[in-house]
Amino acid sequence: MSEAMSSHFRPVGEPLVVDGAYRDDQHARLLQAVRDNGPWKLILAQHFASVEELIATMSGAMPEGVTPTLDMFLTPAFRGFFAEQGVCKHPELEDCFYNSDFMARTRAYWNAQYVRPEQLMFNIQGPADNLDPGHLDAVTFRGTHSRSTPIWLMNIMAKSGLFQDWLLKKAQVITWFYKGEVGGGFTYWPDGPHGQPRRIAAPMWNRGVVVQNEMMYHRGEPNGPVEMRHPEGLDLHSLIEADPDDATGWRIRTDDRVIQHIPEQEIRFLVHWGAEVYEDLDEMKKVMDHTDDLDTQRIVDIFMADLKQRGIQCDEPADPLHDQAFIMQLVDVYDIGAPSIYPPEAPSPLQAA
Ligand SMILES: [Fe+2]
Repeated sequence: MSEAMSSHFRPVGEPLVVDGAYRDDQHARLLQAVRDNGPWKLILAQHFASVEELIATMSGAMPEGVTPTLDMFLTPAFRGFFAEQGVCKHPELEDCFYNSDFMARTRAYWNAQYVRPEQLMFNIQGPADNLDPGHLDAVTFRGTHSRSTPIWLMNIMAKSGLFQDWLLKKAQVITWFYKGEVGGGFTYWPDGPHGQPRRIAAPMWNRGVVVQNEMMYHRGEPNGPVEMRHPEGLDLHSLIEADPDDATGWRIRTDDRVIQHIPEQEIRFLVHWGAEVYEDLDEMKKVMDHTDDLDTQRIVDIFMADLKQRGIQCDEPADPLHDQAFIMQLVDVYDIGAPSIYPPEAPSPLQAA
């Protein structure tokens, strides 16, 4: 929770705005791929297997005495992937993914020699609240993988600042297409979660930003008319798809029941391009050849040494990935908390709730 620690939590560079991130024909093909390959699941459905799990996770942010219900947390924001782990699944989008312009911007942002596009995904939503107070994208280190290292541990590793030498360098170009007039901007904290926030305000059509979102707190702002943000009947398994009765419109359905029609004007479409960066050939080889990887024992050793140096008594855990006392200790020492200052145009969802 210390201010001093969190002040070091900042991206490699000030985010760089890119106007006209995609050509018109690229945007048309991206959107067409969303229309042709739906329906698409909720973002929340990709993180939580059940309603109970979702409520249990989100309840920590609730004020005392408030009983959480599904309606409080469920937001109609959907996600899909066009390219993963360096592979583009849609040949018609290869120029969007193996994007020379984005690659050049990313190299310049990091002052690095090499870049490897890794992921192309999108978020699509109609009017929606956003209850996220600000987050970091999942961080990875040499030797850690989302399949073998739990996300909570990677997050704490990032927050501790102890593993910067092993951090996999990444950058993203996040681009918005949103014509709506209510909310929908992007808040980010380039000077750490307790520094001043900045914003990219809507309307934002084809406006992108080069960022390092694993090391910079950020959040999408709620968008669209308030009375449309909670379509009745929304559930964890609801889907969005092109509206067959409207050439540019969309619809949300729960099972076979259409619960909302969304006109083009209210759609907020975000395209997320992500890449891995290598400062030079040495670093590239270190990553590709696994010559200096972390493993669980090494991670625990580094944490134990730091705790000792801080004068904190902690027994070496026998099963560190599942030892509740050890996990709580790390969270207690290294968790730097949610952002503390919000722009007046986009206040904290925790205060608004
Ligand atoms: Fe994010």
